[in-house]
This record gives sequence, structure tokens and C-alpha cells, in this order.
Amino acid sequence: MTAPAAKKRLLTGDRPTGPLHLGHLVGTLHNRVAMQDDHDCWLIVADLHSLTTRSRREQIGELPELVHEVVLDLLSVGIDPERSTIYLQSGVPAVYDLAILLQMLIPVNRLRLIPTIQDMARNAGLNDDEVPLGLLGYPVLQAADILMARAEVVPVGGDNEAHVAIAVELAEHFNDLYGPVFPIPQAMVSSTPTLPGVDVIPDGSQRKMSKSAGNSIRLKDSADEVAQKIRTLKGPGGDATPEAVESSPLFAFVDAFVGDKALASALKYDYLRGKVRDEAVHEAVTADLEALLAPIRARRAELKADPGRIEEIVVDGTIRAREVAYQTLNKVRDAMGLESLWNGLVETTQRRAEARKRPY
Ligand code: TRP
Repeated sequence: MTAPAAKKRLLTGDRPTGPLHLGHLVGTLHNRVAMQDDHDCWLIVADLHSLTTRSRREQIGELPELVHEVVLDLLSVGIDPERSTIYLQSGVPAVYDLAILLQMLIPVNRLRLIPTIQDMARNAGLNDDEVPLGLLGYPVLQAADILMARAEVVPVGGDNEAHVAIAVELAEHFNDLYGPVFPIPQAMVSSTPTLPGVDVIPDGSQRKMSKSAGNSIRLKDSADEVAQKIRTLKGPGGDATPEAVESSPLFAFVDAFVGDKALASALKYDYLRGKVRDEAVHEAVTADLEALLAPIRARRAELKADPGRIEEIVVDGTIRAREVAYQTLNKVRDAMGLESLWNGLVETTQRRAEARKRPY
């Protein structure tokens, strides 16, 4: 009998900056749940990455609650802690050691040109003179996460693709210089179209659903909140063209959540002919969304009834991550000659102590 092929290690995750929402559900969470079966899944709670723009004392003070919430979100959608390792980034100090070493291998200008860093700086209200070194180094820290975990598959949204590219470059460059230490990671960029935000702030724009825009349907929202938010979605109105229907936020929700595709087509067809109006579409979307969200809410309630369980899962996962991180860091230090540098000092010191017959 042949041994089953080892599962590929997968790493992805989130900054703990607020509750996860429907955009995360369709963009990445469903995929993570599905991939648990045939991958060794690691999910990072990237609190150090959130420090790149949120390092004030009060912001750090919010982390215990934010970490708790994001892990609760992950578990309530069906991430199984028996199969997935959920860990807290700042609980794995070896990752900072690795990040420092990787920083030697990348030019500052390679990082300056990455649009996401400029976007994050702008969103945090920072001008060019105020960008912290840590924010510039965001992708290097992310590369350290990926490489320390020896991850082979990294599912990310389009905005993080450039960061994974940095991880690939660093892995290749490191292996060239010091020997084959790192597996080369592969980005898996999600193809799901981004979900528009709900118009709770009715600015008529079609911004994508995001934590910071305050236009999201959160996984923890009640059934009433969900229904009410769905009702803020406007369709293209009477005399709409098929293109206007397709590109409207309302029908983006139909495409994403109405499970019965024949019903979805019928809604569009009837909408174009003025036979159904926004209200009927809201109802159809809300009904299917509830079928999706009700079990998530039920699992959330079960987890809440077991206080400390979330923290226990994070601690167990982080201990596992620390072991792997130290193994990787040791390989890196060996390959670079830093381990033998230190060992040489210690050995010489021991010999000297022996010679003098006194403990060093
Ligand atoms: N940068 C990711 C985000 O947008 C979070 C993250 C940190 C991450 N380390 C990672 C994602 C490693 C994938 C792999 O929030």
C-alpha cells in the first residue's frame, strides 16, 4: 500500500481590524472551508500587520476583542480547528527574526512602488513623510509568514497578489544565495467578483463592500439587520437596459446569493419587463441569504456558549505554528552561517572556561 500523498500546506488570513462580512464569505471563506479537506490549512490572524497602520495604545487595546471576533467568524463559517491551524502572528516571534533577515534581500524601491502600500498609507491618512518603515515592510513581513510556515499555496484577493510575488522573489533569491531552504509559494488569486457594498450610507456609489467603508453585511448581523440592509440596494429602475441590470448592485446580490439560477434569470427577465420591482428582488435575495446565514449564526451561538474555547483554539494553533517557525528559522540561520557564528563563539568560550577550570 502506498502512503497517501502529503497534503500541501496552505496559508492565508486576515488582519484583525473588524468583523468579517459577506464579501469575505464569497471571496475567500467558502473557499477556505472547501480547501480544508485536501490541504494542510493555516490561517493567520495578522495582528502585526494591523500595527503597520494602527499602533496607538488604544488600538492595541482593542486587539483581544478583534482577534476573538475574527476567529469566531472563521469558526462559525465552518473552519474546523481539528483540520486547520488558526494562529496569532505576534505569538510567533521567530517570524520577526525571519523578516529582518529577508529585509536584507530586497531593495527599498521595489517596495515603494507597490500600490497597496500607497493605498494603505492614504487610507490611514499618512503623507509620504509619515509612512513607517513597518508599513513599507508590510510585504516582507507577509513573506516571512508565508516562508516560515513553508506554505506552498497562498489563496489571496487580487490586492494581495503583489505581496505574494514578493514572497516568491525572496524565496528564490534566498535559495540562490544560501541553498534550497524554502519551497516556492504559489499565489491562488480568487476569481470571485467583488461584492458591492450596501447603501446604508446612501452615497449612490458602487463601492465594494469593505470593513472600513461601513457598507457591509456582517456575518454576525441579525436576520433583521440583514433584511434591512438588503432593502437599501437599488435596482436600475424602470426602462433599464440588460447591461444596467447586470451591473447594478442589486443584481450583483442576485448573482451571488440566489441559489436557483432559473429564478435568478426569471427575476432579471421580469425586471426588464417591469413585472417585478426592487422589493420582490430584495425578498428573493434575503430568503436565500438567510438560508446561508442562519446556520452560521447558529454555530456562532454554540461557540459563544463555551467561553474560552476561541482563546484555547488560538493558543493551540499558535503553539503548533511556533514549532514550525523555529524549525524554519534554524534552517535559515544554518544556511546563512549565523548559527555557526554563534556556536563558534560559544565553543571558544567553553574551551576557555575548561582551560581555566572555572565555569564560564
Ligand atoms: N495581508 C493580508 C491582508 O490583507 C493578511 C496576511 C498577513 C496574509 N500575512 C499573510 C495573507 C500571509 C496571506 C498569507 O489582510
